[in-house]
Amino acid sequence: MELKKKNQLDTPCLVIDKQKLVHNLVLMQTEVTDHNKQLRPHVKTHKCTELAKLQIHYGAIGLSATKVTEALMLSEKGLKNILITSPIVTQAKLSNLVHCRQHDSGLIVVCDSIDNALLLNSIMCRHSLPLKVLVDVDPGVARTGISYDSAINLGRYIHNDCEYLSLLGIQCYAGNLQHVLDYRERKQLSSDVMIKAGQLRQEFIKAGLPCEILSGSGTGTYDIDMAVSDVTEVQPGSYTVMDMEYRNIGSCLNANYYDKYQPAMTLLTTVISANHSSHVTVDAGAKALYFDVNTKPKIISHKGLHYDWSVFGDEHGKVTADPGVVLPKVGDVIEMIVPHCDPTINLYDSFNVIEDGRVVAQWSIDLRGCCK
Ligand SMILES: Cc1ncc(COP(=O)(O)O)c(C=O)c1O
Repeated sequence: MELKKKNQLDTPCLVIDKQKLVHNLVLMQTEVTDHNKQLRPHVKTHKCTELAKLQIHYGAIGLSATKVTEALMLSEKGLKNILITSPIVTQAKLSNLVHCRQHDSGLIVVCDSIDNALLLNSIMCRHSLPLKVLVDVDPGVARTGISYDSAINLGRYIHNDCEYLSLLGIQCYAGNLQHVLDYRERKQLSSDVMIKAGQLRQEFIKAGLPCEILSGSGTGTYDIDMAVSDVTEVQPGSYTVMDMEYRNIGSCLNANYYDKYQPAMTLLTTVISANHSSHVTVDAGAKALYFDVNTKPKIISHKGLHYDWSVFGDEHGKVTADPGVVLPKVGDVIEMIVPHCDPTINLYDSFNVIEDGRVVAQWSIDLRGCCK
């Protein structure tokens, strides 16, 4: 049977160019390996087990996940060495954590308080299962994490007083720095944070506390953070498919944009009404394309066209043209790079995987909705 062409897909939909995706996976893995670090990529971006398997195939040592339900789904499907990067605190979540640990003996979870360590220890004691733990250190974001000054006490408590917890090291993730526009400024800020985290790792080691892992970093700072000798692994996510938020920041190669990783994922939308000289209407609105106040999508299939959500609401988008540019017709398919990949992906059930312009596979976005 002949494979469908990309433009024959029903829209709105997400497509992944397999060649670009593999380029991104191989490039990241090669860079990380060349720096003698490990890659534990974050699945919060793509929420797709098939894609996670590819990351492992190309050399990742495990995966990072934010939510215990994401980790549980991955572990039920046989994926191992998952790091849960956000604290797990309620009974419902702890019960899922135990299930996850039953599937994955390499499971690691972060912890940012003595109370949470106590809770994790008691649930693991009830099930007679040891659990690996990283102390989550706040890089100054005030989202999660314990202060640098209190981290060693928490490390001591986990190591000395929690029989069922096994201390493995530190997580320090500076989400606030990933999109700092100016590369030199980002480099300075992120180096300061990770050098401090590295000094903390040395303090752990001097105090006799196990600290084989210092994990953190995203697509915006991994190349900066890998220069810090104490950093042992990085957790980037967006590099897989990229988005306009990342393409618009400066990089080590160019002051104005970041194009080392290719825009492997795009969104297709169709013109459904064209009765005005000022614009046409497409079938992707805010329910198909996550609304971002600061960043617009970029139309790549046509020159001089622009997408806007602001007027037509949930189900429709407005496409306008630069002066002199002809508007597309009803039925024309428009392809764009999305502003922010994570929340847009979370709106879809599957990726259409494209090779040589044809749809070769559909990958379920099976972790979609795993927000607990
Ligand atoms: C803890 C943690 N690590 C890694 C990442 C991956 O970041 P990025 O998608 O910017 O590469 C995130 C993203 O929010 C995160 O929260």
